[in-house]
This record gives sequence, structure tokens and C-alpha cells, in this order.
Amino acid sequence: MKKSYLLVAFFFAAIFALENCKPDPAIIKGNNLDPDSLYVGKKYTMPTNLYRFPALNNPFADSMTYEGIALGRRLFYDKNLSKDGTKACASCHHLVAAFSDSGNVKSTNEFGPTKRNAPALQNLAWAPYYFWDGRQKTIAAQAQDAYHNELGLIVTNAITYLQTDSIDVKLFKKAFGRPGTITEANIYKAIQQFEMTAISANSKFDQYLQSKATFTQSELNGYQIFNTETGDCFHCHMSDGGASLLITDNLYRNNGLDSALTVNDFADPGRGGITLNESDYGKFKDPSLRNIALTGPYMHDGRYTTLMQVINFYSDSTHRSPTIDPILLLYNHNYGAGLHLVQSQKNDLLNFLYTLTDTSFINNPNLASPF
Ligand code: HEC
Ligand code: HEC
Repeated sequence: MKKSYLLVAFFFAAIFALENCKPDPAIIKGNNLDPDSLYVGKKYTMPTNLYRFPALNNPFADSMTYEGIALGRRLFYDKNLSKDGTKACASCHHLVAAFSDSGNVKSTNEFGPTKRNAPALQNLAWAPYYFWDGRQKTIAAQAQDAYHNELGLIVTNAITYLQTDSIDVKLFKKAFGRPGTITEANIYKAIQQFEMTAISANSKFDQYLQSKATFTQSELNGYQIFNTETGDCFHCHMSDGGASLLITDNLYRNNGLDSALTVNDFADPGRGGITLNESDYGKFKDPSLRNIALTGPYMHDGRYTTLMQVINFYSDSTHRSPTIDPILLLYNHNYGAGLHLVQSQKNDLLNFLYTLTDTSFINNPNLASPF
């Protein structure tokens, strides 16, 4: 009885040993560094079940792999790709602040102060264009712009550096298949894949709408003000008539920040600086208000430090100009003079804005630094 056990054990041990002695086919071919399996990444599928999110219509969603995302995350946090080796995307885009630049009005890039305030980075896969003036149409093109204009990327140095990092080399291969070489374009594609996974869909507001959390009376009042003509925020910050939870309508508008007699009087031409179309001057991308409590200071130039200052602006000091949004001349906006909210309404609106904070987003370990 004992003997037969031993025999069986010996049999399996022999098979195991044989299997392991089999020469690797890649080694036989003499290219043991590049077995084909190195060139196959694991496909990543974007979530499709996010509550009240519009359908994802992004052509880059189909080419995502876990390895491409892991690579993009490493690049996003890697300071070695900047000109002086001291900055990364993450230097201005901090996860704790929903990837905005914690409290800084302007950031410092490789060439001096940035022209505008660094926005939050979230749900970018659903955005039709990028930057306050919408000058880039894909996340990869945006990344190229940022690498050159914020980080002073020197492409040949970056590629040489990445070729010395065995983890990056492996990830480039798996993410981009054969030929999985390290190219400038693949750097941007990897960043794009990582940024597409920066999804915020779990604020108290999301939970409230799904009956997973309850609102206080003040939060309810604030929601009512936000989502009706009383405060009239929904016309620009909610799309599909308040149905979509991106909390922006993704259009360009002039929300009455400055008075101007002619379109040349705007300190920053915004969208007009790109299209050179008179009707676009002074217009900026309607920002998503997700995580807004974390992303101050506010507006394209960071002029407001607190959310109450923003509420006071919409209430008491909007300004007329040739491109002011027509919505600010209608409804309760007193023909461009502001909403004239009373203090309790302002407090309620503020409490509602706080419910847009998504702590699971800023604590998502998959978005944090891998180093
Ligand atoms: C020095 C600070 C700084 C660095 C470094 C930086 N950014 Fe930014 N980022 C900004 C500023 C400022 C803006 C807004 C500029 C504008 O709209 O004109 C911005 C805008 C963006 C946007 C547009 C978001 C939107 O909603 O339209 C994305 C995406 C982005 N950055 C990603 C990146 C990536 C990726 C990197 C690294 C390659 C990077 N940033 C590096 C400061 C920085
Ligand atoms: C006519 C369209 C419009 C309406 C109505 C509107 N907004 Fe805005 N909002 C914008 C635009 C456009 C910006 C960006 C302006 C800029 O920076 O030049 C903005 C910016 C903001 C910001 C700063 C976002 C950031 O990331 O810096 C907050 C906060 C905000 N709005 C809250 C509100 C609230 C609260 C209401 C309702 C009381 C409201 N908005 C009504 C268009 C609008």
C-alpha cells in the first residue's frame, strides 16, 4: 500500500521535473528576451453601469489594457520625464484635491507660472475636449501639450531614460504589442489610458439619488436651489436637462465674471483665443462641479478662494459683456445683475455643493502614486 503511494508520488515528481527542463522556445530561437507572451496585455473594459452617466462614446476605450493603465500611472507620477527632473503631472494635479493643484491660484511649470488655474481631472473619458479653452480634442493630444508646455519634455532623453527601467520596458511591450517599442506617441497613449480610469461617480449626491444616503433639510433645499431657476445652476452645470451626472454640460460659456465693452477687453480671451471667433471671446469650458469643495481656488484664473465667494458672485455681482451667456439675462438673474439670494439660500446651496465630494475617488489606491 505504502509502496504504491510512493510510486505515484515519484511519477508526478518525474513529470514535473520533465516539464521544467523543457527549453523555453524563445531561448531556442535565440531571442530569449522577447518571448511572444511579453507582447500581450490584459484587456481592460471601462465601466458601463455608472448611474446616470451618459453612454461612453470614446474611441480609445477599446484599446485599453491593465498594463497600459499601469504604465500611464507610472508616467503620470514620474519626475524623470520633465526637463529639470523635478516635476511630473502629479506635481500640479494632486489626487487629494481631485487632481487639481491644492489651493494654488497658478502652478509653476518648467518655464514659469502657468497662465491659468489647474483644473480637477475626473471623468475625462466623457469630455469632448480638454483645457479651459478646449484647445485639445483627445486626452493623448492634451498629454502631448502638457508634456511640452508644462514639463519641457525632451523626447530623446525621456525615451533613453524609459529604456533603462525594466518595469517600464515590460509594460510598454504588453500595452502596445509588437512592436511594443518606447515611442513618444505611446507615452501619450499610456497617460490617456490611466486618465480614463480616473472616474468619480460615488459622491453623497450620487448616493442620495440612488437612495443609498439621505440629505439633511439644508442639503435638500440647496439641491432645490441648484436644480431649479431659483439658483439656476443646472442650466450650465448639468447636461441633458439635469439628467446626466457629469455635473457639467461640456459647453463653452461666459458666466459673467467680467464686464467688457468690446470683446477685446477680456483679460483672457478663453475659447475666442482658439477660434478667433468674436462670439467665443470670454467663454470657457463649463467645469464639472464634482469634488468642487476640494478643487479651489475657483474659475479659470483662480480668482475666488472659497465657494461662498463663488455663490456671492452668482448672487450679487455678475457682469454684462458682449458675450455674456443669454441664460444670465433670463430667469432669476435680474438681467445680468445676479440672483439676489438671501443668506439662508446661500448656506443651503453651499451645503449642497459639499455633497458633490467623492471621498472614494480621492482615496482610490489605483490612482495614487505607484512609487
Ligand atoms: C505646472 C503645472 C502642471 C503640470 C506639470 C501639468 N499640468 Fe495639467 N494642467 C495645468 C493647468 C494650469 C491646466 C489648465 C490650462 C488651460 O486650460 O489652459 C491643466 C489642464 C490639464 C488638463 C485638462 C483638464 C480638462 O478638464 O480640460 C488635463 C487632462 C491635464 N492638465 C493633464 C495633465 C497631464 C497628463 C500632465 C503631465 C503630462 C499635466 N497635466 C501636467 C497644470 C499642470
Ligand atoms: C451661464 C452658465 C452658468 C451658470 C448659470 C452657472 N455657472 Fe458656474 N460656471 C460656468 C462657467 C462657464 C464657469 C467657468 C468660468 C471661468 O472660469 O471663466 C463656471 C464656474 C463655476 C465654478 C468654479 C469651478 C472651478 O472649477 O473653478 C463654480 C463653483 C460654479 N461655477 C458654481 C455655480 C453655481 C453654484 C451656480 C448657480 C448659482 C452656477 N455655477 C451657475 C457657467 C455657469
